[in-house]
Order: sequence, then C-alpha cells, then structure tokens
Amino acid sequence: MASTFHIASVFTLIFSLPVLSHGWGTDGHYIVCQIAQQRLSDAAARAVNELLPDYAKGNLSSLCSWADHVKFMYPWSSELHYIDIADDSCTYNYSRDCKDKSGVQGRCVSGAIFNYTSQLRTHGNYNLTQALLFLSHFMGDIHQPLHVAHTSDKGGNTIDVQWYHKKTVLHHVWDDSIIDTAEDHFYGNEVDKYIDALQRNITGEWSSQIPKWQSCSGDKTTCPDIYASESISAACDWAYKGVTDGAVLEDEYFNTRLPIVDLRLAQAGVRLAATLNRIFS
Ligand SMILES: *[C@@H]1O[C@H](CO)[C@@H](O)[C@H](O)[C@H]1NC(C)=O
Ligand SMILES: *[C@@H]1O[C@H](CO)[C@@H](O)[C@H](O)[C@H]1NC(C)=O
Ligand SMILES: *[C@@H]1O[C@H](CO)[C@@H](O)[C@H](O)[C@H]1NC(C)=O
Ligand SMILES: *[C@@H]1O[C@H](CO)[C@@H](O)[C@H](O)[C@H]1NC(C)=O
Ligand SMILES: *[C@@H]1O[C@H](CO)[C@@H](O)[C@H](O)[C@H]1NC(C)=O
Repeated sequence: MASTFHIASVFTLIFSLPVLSHGWGTDGHYIVCQIAQQRLSDAAARAVNELLPDYAKGNLSSLCSWADHVKFMYPWSSELHYIDIADDSCTYNYSRDCKDKSGVQGRCVSGAIFNYTSQLRTHGNYNLTQALLFLSHFMGDIHQPLHVAHTSDKGGNTIDVQWYHKKTVLHHVWDDSIIDTAEDHFYGNEVDKYIDALQRNITGEWSSQIPKWQSCSGDKTTCPDIYASESISAACDWAYKGVTDGAVLEDEYFNTRLPIVDLRLAQAGVRLAATLNRIFS
C-alpha cells in the first residue's frame, strides 16, 4: 500500500510540472474525459476499469493528460498530438495532411486515433493501457481547433497575443485561457460546475444533434477525419480570425469564441464515449 502510494505521488509530482504548449490544458482534457466517462456503456466502463492502472482507482479523467506527460519519455509520440495544414488551406485531407515532418504517412493525431482504436479492438500486441490513455487524450486534442492548424505558425504557437493583461500565445489561449476565464467568470473557479453546464446542454440544447456527432459513416468505429475537418474550419473561422501578432484579446474575443470551445469540449467527450462504446461492444 505504502509503496503504491509513494509511486503514485511521485508520478503526480513529476508530471504535474508545467509543460510548454500541449493539447487542451489539464482542465480541457479532464472535462472531455469526465463527459465521456459518464456516457460509457456497462461493457465499456468495465473494460476501461480493467485497463486503467490501479492508482487511477477506476477514474479515467485522472489520466487524460498522461499523453502530454510522456512526450519526453516517448519522443516519437509528440508529433501525434496535431496535424499541420498548409498555410493557404482551411480544409483537411487525410492522405495530403496526415503525416509527420519527415513525411511519414499516418503520423498525425487522426492516424493515431485510428491506430489506438484498432489496437484496442483487436487486442493487438501492444500495451492496451497506453492505447486507452493515448486514445482518450488524442480525442480531446483533435477537437482543439488549433491542433489542426497552420504549419508556419505552429498552430498559433508563434502568434504572440495578450490575453487581457497577460502575455501569451494564441495556441495557449485555446488550450487554457478561454477555459480558465470561463471557469473564473461563470463557474466560481470550479471545473466540475463547468462540466455540469456542458452536460445540461448535451441533454438539452444539443440533444437533437448528438446522433449526428456520434455517427460514423459505413459503421466505422471512429471518424477522426470528420473531427479534424471541423477543427481546421473552426481554426480559420474563429481562432485565427482577426488576430494578428501582438493582438490584445479581451471580452469581445472571449464572448464570441467561448461557444466554440464549449461545443468542441462537448463533442470530444461525446465522441470519445461513442468510440469506446463501439470498441468494447
Ligand atoms: C477523478 O480524478 C480527477 C482528477 O484527478 C478528480 O478531480 C476527480 O475528483 C476524480 N473523480 C473521482 C470520482 O474520484
Ligand atoms: C486528398 O489528397 C490526395 C493527395 O494529395 C488527392 O489525391 C485527393 O484527390 C484529395 N482528396 C480530396 C477529397 O480532395
Ligand atoms: C501506433 O501505436 C504504436 C504503439 O504505441 C506506436 O509505436 C506507433 O508510433 C503508433 N503510430 C501512430 C501513427 O499512432
Ligand atoms: C503498460 O503501460 C502502463 C502505463 O504506462 C504501465 O504502467 C504498465 O506497466 C505497462 N504494462 C506493461 C505490461 O508493460
Ligand atoms: C448552454 O446553452 C445555452 C443556450 O444556448 C448557452 O447560453 C450556454 O452558454 C451554454 N453553456 C455551455 C456551457 O455550453
């Protein structure tokens, strides 16, 4: 018991150190996995529970940022968090765009979602705990518009902006700042209240759209190419729109972009659950 506890706390300590830019921040990934966890079928919940390491105590949400923490240990995985799109394009095409910097086909967040989905389905000769943690994380990342975004600005990582009074970069605004500001303004800094509000819209406002969010043409298990196309489109229409280097982003940007962040977090959670439910059906 004691040693398990220590390993778990050392793990938490080491891996809670701030990392430079990654997918949705810790809260974003936590929100996605909490939404997903509550929508799992009994069979999927059982399978997830069996795959999670003991120290997670059956709580997938506690490990949804794991893939960010292992980027240093597994350098090959760092290019699997995003997709680079040519600067003059606002569309996505798997065979044209899903590759890494050296041009290896399939090495992008969409290819990784296919990869880990298929490992879990076929009980491939891989570590399925890691497959589950990668899949749960990448399903979040692919819904963050600036994770399917332009090459030369590295998905907004090289666009300096000011978020209210703080200097940051546009990518970080979408990973963290909009979420943090929403929690601060509307949810008493409690991420769980934000999740409750999203849940209410999933069962209310958005309920008629859920079948469409979940659907995958031709009985596929998961449809990351659809999610990626939506992201680059939102990146062009909302994230980049009107933002130049050095821009000051305040209420106007926050109020108009928050609904997009709300939608993408909800879609990611719903689709992660739908994918896991199909994998373990
Ligand atoms: C799951 O883990 C998260 C993050 O570590 C924590 O905030 C949450 O309370 C946990 N949920 C349960 C049911 O233990
Ligand atoms: C996607 O890109 C490939 C390779 O560049 C091209 O052959 C194909 O026509 C494109 N598909 C669509 C739907 O544009
Ligand atoms: C697929 O998963 C394996 C095992 O984690 C990994 O070595 C490989 O790089 C992955 N490929 C992609 C495209 O995700
Ligand atoms: C699978 O990966 C998990 C998480 O990294 C690790 O704790 C576990 O020891 C691995 N299992 C095997 C059999 O290597
Ligand atoms: C829920 O939907 C209402 C009505 O469209 C909207 O005003 C609110 O911002 C939404 N909240 C979240 C968290 O999506």
